[in-house]
Amino acid sequence: MLQFLIWLALSTKCVLCANILYVSLLPSPSHQIWNRVFATGLGKKGHNVTLVDLEKNKEQFANYSHIYIEGAYDVMYSKFDPWVLASYTPTQTIAGTIEISIVVCEAALESQGLQQLLNYPPNFSFDLIIFDVTLDCCFYPLIHRFNYPPTIGTSPWPLPSFLIYPFGSPLQPSYTPWYALPYTDDMTLMERFWNHIFTYGETAFRPHIKNQLEEKLMETFGEDTPPPKKLEAHISLLLSNHDLLLNYPRALAPNIISVGGLHIPKTKEIPEDLESILNGAKNGIILFSLGTNMQSDFLTNQTQRSLVNAFANLSETIIWKYESDIDNLPRNVVVRKWLRQSDILGHPNVKLFIGHAGGLGTQEAIYHGVPMVCIPFFLDQHVNAKKIVREKLGLSLDYKKITTENFLSRVRQVLDNPVYSENIKTLSRMYRDRKEFPLETAIFWAEYAIRNNGCQILNTQTRNLPPYEAFNLDIVTLFILMCIVVGLLFYKVVNLLFSKLGILKLKTN
Ligand SMILES: *[C@@H]1O[C@H](CO)[C@@H](O)[C@H](O)[C@H]1NC(C)=O
Ligand SMILES: *[C@@H]1O[C@H](CO)[C@@H](O)[C@H](O)[C@H]1NC(C)=O
Ligand SMILES: *[C@@H]1O[C@H](CO)[C@@H](O)[C@H](O)[C@H]1NC(C)=O
Ligand SMILES: *[C@@H]1O[C@H](CO)[C@@H](O)[C@H](O)[C@H]1NC(C)=O
Ligand SMILES: *[C@@H]1O[C@H](CO)[C@@H](O)[C@H](O)[C@H]1NC(C)=O
Repeated sequence: MLQFLIWLALSTKCVLCANILYVSLLPSPSHQIWNRVFATGLGKKGHNVTLVDLEKNKEQFANYSHIYIEGAYDVMYSKFDPWVLASYTPTQTIAGTIEISIVVCEAALESQGLQQLLNYPPNFSFDLIIFDVTLDCCFYPLIHRFNYPPTIGTSPWPLPSFLIYPFGSPLQPSYTPWYALPYTDDMTLMERFWNHIFTYGETAFRPHIKNQLEEKLMETFGEDTPPPKKLEAHISLLLSNHDLLLNYPRALAPNIISVGGLHIPKTKEIPEDLESILNGAKNGIILFSLGTNMQSDFLTNQTQRSLVNAFANLSETIIWKYESDIDNLPRNVVVRKWLRQSDILGHPNVKLFIGHAGGLGTQEAIYHGVPMVCIPFFLDQHVNAKKIVREKLGLSLDYKKITTENFLSRVRQVLDNPVYSENIKTLSRMYRDRKEFPLETAIFWAEYAIRNNGCQILNTQTRNLPPYEAFNLDIVTLFILMCIVVGLLFYKVVNLLFSKLGILKLKTN
C-alpha cells in the first residue's frame, strides 16, 4: 500500500518529464519576457527546460537552466536605435528588420553560448525543441544536430503574414492590416491596395534571409546541414501571441494556435515598494511606461519638459517608468527604472495607462480594464493605436507633436469621459471569459507535440505547394485564357453571322 502511494505521488508529480530545448533569438527585451513566461511555465510542470536566449540570466531554479547568447544585443544596438526604427517608411521597415535578423544571427553564431550547446554529447537527446520563429532561422540546424525531435515555433508578435504563409495559412490582406501600416480591418480601396503590396511583398521577400544565411550556417554547423527552408518544414506548430480581442479575427490554419496574453500572470502581487503609494493615492494613479525598446529617457528634452509640466498640472499620482536619473520632478510623480507593469495595472486605483501601444502592454491593459492614452512609435504600435482609438478604449497622440496642452487634453478626456473606461471594462470581461489561461493552452500543445511526435497532422498541404499553386495563379491564368478563347470564338461567330446577314441584306436589296 505504502509503495503504491509513493508510486502514485511520484507519478502524479511528473507524468511526462521531457527534456526541452527552448531557443529565442528575438532581440526585444519585452518579447523575451513572453518566451520566459512560457519556458518557466514548462519548468513548473516538471519538464527539464534549457532556455537559450539573448538575456543575461535573471532567475535560476530547479528544472530550468539557461544558456546565454552573448554579444547579439551589443551589435544590434550599435547599428540600430529606436529613433531610426521610428523614422522608417514601410519599405525601410522590411529592409531594416531583415538586416536586424542577419546582424543578430551573425553575432549569435559566434557566441560562446552556441559552442556550449554544440559541445553536448553527440548522443544527447531533447524530446522537444521550441524556436521563437519571429525573425530568424539562425539556430534551425539544431534540429539536425539533435536528430529531429518534435519541434514547434512560438512568436510573441501579433502574427505577421510572413509567418503565417510558411506555416500554410492563406494571406488575408483584404481585412488584415499589414503590421506597420496604420489601418484597421475596414480599409478604403487605396488602403487595401497598399496593404496588398506590403503583405505580398514582404511575404515574397523575407525567405531570402534563409538563402542569405545558408552558407554561414553550414560553416558553423557542418557541411551536412540541410538548408533552413528544409528544416523549417519540420516545425509543425506555431503558438502565437495573436489575440482575438486586441488584433482582428483571422482565418488561420489548424497548426497556428492563438495563445494571446500568455505572459499575463494569473495571480497579481502588489509590488512592495509601491504598495503604500498605490493604496494611498486619493485621486487615482496614472501609469506611464514606454516599454523596453523606446524608453522615456530617449525622448527629446523638449518632449520630456512638456510631459513634466503636464504632470504638474494633474492631481493624480503618476508612476513613471524612467530609465535614467532625473530630478526636479513635481511631487505627484514617482519614478522607477523598472516596473512590474501588469501587477500595477491590476491595482484598482489605477485609472489610466499611458504607453506606446505595444502588443504586450496593450494586452495587459485590456486584461485589467484600464483605458489608455497611447504614443505609438513603430511596427505594430500604429495598428494597435488605431484600433484603440476606433473602439474608444483610449486616445492616441503623435510623438512628434507632443505639447503640454495636447497631452493634458488627451489625458483629461480619457479620465473624465466614462465611455473609455466602460468600453475597456466590457472588453476585459470578455478577455477573461475563457475556458483556460493561454499559458495552459500553450503547455497543452507543447506536451501534445511530445506525445505525438510533432503536430504534422495539423498541417495543411499548402506548406508543400509552390506559391503559384498555393495562390491558384495557374488556375486563374487558365481561367483567363479560357475566357479569352471563348470571347474570341464568340467574336468570330458573331462577325461571321453579321457578314453573312450583311451579304443577305445586300442581295435582297
Ligand atoms: C520541478 O519539477 C517538479 C516535478 O518534477 C515540480 O514539482 C517542481 O515544482 C518543479 N520545480 C519548480 C521550481 O518549478
Ligand atoms: C536537463 O538539462 C540540462 C541542461 O541542458 C542537462 O545538462 C541535463 O542533462 C538535463 N537533464 C536530463 C535528465 O536530461
Ligand atoms: C552516450 O554515449 C556515452 C558513451 O558512448 C554513454 O556512456 C552514454 O550512456 C550515452 N548516453 C545516452 C543518453 O545514450
Ligand atoms: C538634454 O538634457 C541633458 C541633461 O540635462 C543634456 O545633457 C543634453 O545635452 C540635453 N540635450 C539637448 C539636445 O539639449
Ligand atoms: C494648469 O492648471 C491651471 C488650473 O489648475 C490652469 O489654469 C492652467 O491653464 C493649466 N495649465 C495647462 C497648461 O493646462
